[in-house]
Amino acid sequence: MKGDHVGTLKQLAIMGALNSFAEITTRMLGESLGISQQAASKEILKLAEKKLVERQIGQKGQRLTITKAGHEMLKREYLEYKLLFEPTKNMQIHGSVFSGLGEGRYYISQARYKQQFAKKLMFAPFEGTLNIRVTASDMPLFETLTFSEGIRIDGFVSKGRTFGDVKCFLAMLQGIECSVIIPVRTHYTDVMEVIASRHLRSALSLKDGDMVELDISLE
Ligand code: CDP
Repeated sequence: MKGDHVGTLKQLAIMGALNSFAEITTRMLGESLGISQQAASKEILKLAEKKLVERQIGQKGQRLTITKAGHEMLKREYLEYKLLFEPTKNMQIHGSVFSGLGEGRYYISQARYKQQFAKKLMFAPFEGTLNIRVTASDMPLFETLTFSEGIRIDGFVSKGRTFGDVKCFLAMLQGIECSVIIPVRTHYTDVMEVIASRHLRSALSLKDGDMVELDISLE
């Protein structure tokens, strides 16, 4: 689905619809995409239906602009190309601290995870995770992180319960070494979990709602 629309969005952006309304006829769009006027018209209707573009119909014709969702789709595509052609060693992700349900402690305290953290991350984490709600504008970046390899921590079964594979990315949070931890089989989420040898809240005087920047290593 993404493949169908992202090329059109890119062309609309080139034609001026990225940050404001632009007058774009279906004939112009069709010509630039190498498709018929009818096909271009259908494509715009689909994009509008999916709320990727907003249309205004005036006397002179239609004006189009790319919505926030469309913007994000394009940005994600851009970041994927950027990582392919200009691999970076670090990325900065911003978000706000929030409290979870105390589950982090349960996972991080598992002996089989702890052994691997010590060996592969070279630190013994405080038994818990600091939850960060990723800022909407950094979500495309966080998604590319989710698809990156990272440092693999193998899952296991303990007392009849399955603990999944996770991957870790070493990071710095306001000068303190830490690691982002992501389940390998993850679902779409804006929650980033961080582990560190120190209790980050006390070390950095963090409270719920505080904005933080993580400098994450992709190596
Ligand atoms: O209750 P919640 O799921 O948010 O947290 P937890 O994983 O059980 O961790 C206990 C508390 O320690 C929470 O307030 C975390 O935000 C905090 N924490 C921290 O400050 N530094 C860490 N390295 C890990 C957890």
